Amino acid sequence: MYIADAERYSAMPYRRVGHSGLKLPAISLGLWHNFGDDTPLDRQQAILRRAFDRGVTHFDLANNYGPQPGAAEENFGKVVARDFAPYRDEMIISSKAGWVMNDSPYGFGGSRKYLMSSLDASLRRMGLDYVDIFYHHRPDPDTPLEETMYALRDIVASGKALYAGISSYGSELTREAAEMMAEEGCPLLIHQPSYSIVNRWVEEPGTEGTSLLQQAADSGLGVIAFSPLAQGMLTDRYLDGIPEDSRAAAGKSLKPDWLNEQNLAMIRTLHGIAEDRGQSLAQMALAWILRDQGPETVTSALVGASSVEQLDQNLDALKNLEFSDSELKAIDDAAHDAGINIWGAATASRTHA
Ligand SMILES: NC(=O)c1ccc[n+]([C@@H]2O[C@H](COP(=O)([O-])OP(=O)(O)OC[C@H]3O[C@@H](n4cnc5c(N)ncnc54)[C@H](OP(=O)(O)O)[C@@H]3O)[C@@H](O)[C@H]2O)c1
Repeated sequence: MYIADAERYSAMPYRRVGHSGLKLPAISLGLWHNFGDDTPLDRQQAILRRAFDRGVTHFDLANNYGPQPGAAEENFGKVVARDFAPYRDEMIISSKAGWVMNDSPYGFGGSRKYLMSSLDASLRRMGLDYVDIFYHHRPDPDTPLEETMYALRDIVASGKALYAGISSYGSELTREAAEMMAEEGCPLLIHQPSYSIVNRWVEEPGTEGTSLLQQAADSGLGVIAFSPLAQGMLTDRYLDGIPEDSRAAAGKSLKPDWLNEQNLAMIRTLHGIAEDRGQSLAQMALAWILRDQGPETVTSALVGASSVEQLDQNLDALKNLEFSDSELKAIDDAAHDAGINIWGAATASRTHA
């Protein structure tokens, strides 16, 4: 029987999400990869237990995480039933709909039909009565923004989700969505964009001159940054080639040609800067995401991990979140955009209501 570590809240910082009353751990765990039916359940259980024992209260899922789509939610539901049922009130569990779930006309996009039916299916798979955060997973060029936002509003009113969020929305669409939801008395809680040392689109001015980080702050939204390790590129995983058991070797979302000489040279330089700080590259990449940016400071870094060891190493990033100006400059001088923002087309597919 699992009993959570009594000391689990002693080392993790918890950060308030935008203008809400909710706090998230500085590091959250995502179940996009490593929690489908291609990963033994006992490994999944070990990672989830360790995360919770070290103060990770937030677990991020989506309808389509697998393989197969839906499998991560089913597997997570099994571990919740076995281990976490007594701790449900201490957990922030999120799910999403928006990307392709199935071939039907109601398995993609932002329609009320898709969002509502998908959340019901997610709750069934996880064996939960509610999720804490429900996201629209990506902008939909075909559905009026009102339809998507009012579906989120009604989902929150139904009690099936406590808060609503958006993912990969650009700056202007974020402003419009936030305004709409504020008028409805159901403020958006959070934005989930990709962000890392080598993928900084959230810092760039949008078409109206405001960056996404600035807009989220202005609209009172928190920000949880996904793929902060650039799917594993910002670690020591690929310094000596592509390991057989890695995401890049698995033909998944990390394209092996991203590990080209130019990117590898950059990764090696960043690795050296991390070493000088007494951190691994993964730890420095997470600390960098969490660095103080004033009102635009990111709320939580949303990592993935394929082992307990990776998770432990990542959580140890919290031991040093401080950067000197010269360290930040060295990182900026070394880093270039690695060309890995595979979510950019979804962001560009709809820029206004
Ligand atoms: N909203 C969206 O559209 C969206 C999109 C993508 C992700 N997300 C969310 O963000 C979460 C994280 O995404 P991600 O998995 O791409 O994040 P990530 O943290 O950038 O990458 C995680 C991968 O990096 C490698 N890794 C992690 N720690 C390591 C360490 N200490 N040393 C060496 N390698 C290490 C592992 O790769 P190996 O598996 O090769 O070991 C791991 O699977 C997802 O689970 C999901 O919840 C959301």
